[in-house]
Amino acid sequence: MQALLEDFDGVAPPAAAPWYFATMSCAHGLAAEMFESAFSVDTSTITFGRGALAELGEHARALGIKRAAVFTDPRVKNLPFFQGATRSLETSHVDFEVFAQCRVEPTDVSFSTAAEFARAGRFDGYISIGGGSVIDTCKVAALYATYPAPFLTYVNAPIGEGRPVPGPLPPHIACPTTAGTGSETTAIAVCDILSIGAKTGIVSRAIRPTRALIDPTCTASLPASVVAAAGFDVLSHALESFTARPYSCRKKPDSPAQRPLSQGSNPWSDLGSIEALRLGGKYLVRAVTDPSDSEAREALSWAATLAGIAFGNAGVHLPHAMSYAVAGLAHDFQMPGYPEGESFVPHGISVILNAPSTFQETAAAAPDKHLTAARALGANAADSDRDNAGEILTNILTELMKKTGVPNGIAAVGLASSDLPALAERAALQKRLTDNAPIDVSVELLERLFSNSLTLW
Ligand SMILES: [Fe+2]
Repeated sequence: MQALLEDFDGVAPPAAAPWYFATMSCAHGLAAEMFESAFSVDTSTITFGRGALAELGEHARALGIKRAAVFTDPRVKNLPFFQGATRSLETSHVDFEVFAQCRVEPTDVSFSTAAEFARAGRFDGYISIGGGSVIDTCKVAALYATYPAPFLTYVNAPIGEGRPVPGPLPPHIACPTTAGTGSETTAIAVCDILSIGAKTGIVSRAIRPTRALIDPTCTASLPASVVAAAGFDVLSHALESFTARPYSCRKKPDSPAQRPLSQGSNPWSDLGSIEALRLGGKYLVRAVTDPSDSEAREALSWAATLAGIAFGNAGVHLPHAMSYAVAGLAHDFQMPGYPEGESFVPHGISVILNAPSTFQETAAAAPDKHLTAARALGANAADSDRDNAGEILTNILTELMKKTGVPNGIAAVGLASSDLPALAERAALQKRLTDNAPIDVSVELLERLFSNSLTLW
């Protein structure tokens, strides 16, 4: 860890661990003892490897699950590995019912339907088999079935009431089938609130799955565009966690329980982020362009796991804050390989389109970290290139985007200059994320970043 961090120069905030050199000064005007001096590492218990999904029944039994709610979506339900998973439950004598109506990009309405299924079924455990949307749906269904309440009760303020979850939830085994969101290890569930057209979510340690059961062979049948979208979500999780405002620049909480999940970059999340970037740089293009390249798809699954743990503890920042605005305003885009007739910008695409303009801007706050990230992705750069770190990172990112057929900027998903003020205003509402950026963020800055994201090359 020391060797990795020796690259980072800059000003260490007063209370930082002495070997964790932040790359920006913390100009909060706080006395030294008021800065955060500790960080936490929270994650689900993880089992990772080829064929791991066949262990599902035994893991469910070990957690004491006798009657499980199994959440999935209509596509995954018909795939051989899903049937293998339910056979494993039968072999272990775990009773279960399947809810296969999880929708891609869930909404408050789809979450509520899933919660009603969970409440009516009197389950003592939960299993999700699918992408991030399925896993998020399962988290929320378990929450509202266990602690029934009007939907906005636990939703983040200011859109929701932001009330704390009253207690623990039954066990949840999350089995991701895409290499992207990292939802299997995080304490976040995201959805569209249809009545106000805004994207927000629920953040609570209580909704983190008990176990992540990650079988990389589940990604073998994914279309190239889904692998690309999910893969760029992974890269952005890693880049945003690595460049987030350091944990030691935050005000110390009054009690450990108040330490936020998005703590800012820290030594643990840095390790996962850098390895995820190295794997992404090496394998993303192969995983997208050759479905038979199982080595590449497996490596990407591990990168997704590492980046998920990283951002689950560090938090993401501007590309994700901006993505919610893009997804909210671009309604007519249909990505090949996604469900027919449903127009939306896939999450990973809406994120990565904002990444080049963001990192060009944030590089000045932490040049060595940006340069380290660029090198991890495969850029050829020397220490003396630190003044051009933003450009070097942006170039290697756009190179990967071109090679994998990602749309060329937010104009290519249907947005125009006239949308810039609305995009900036919506992104500014994601304060939990914008506060995690390594630079101060204003509506004007967001508008400029969106403007620079219209066309990327
Ligand atoms: Fe994401």
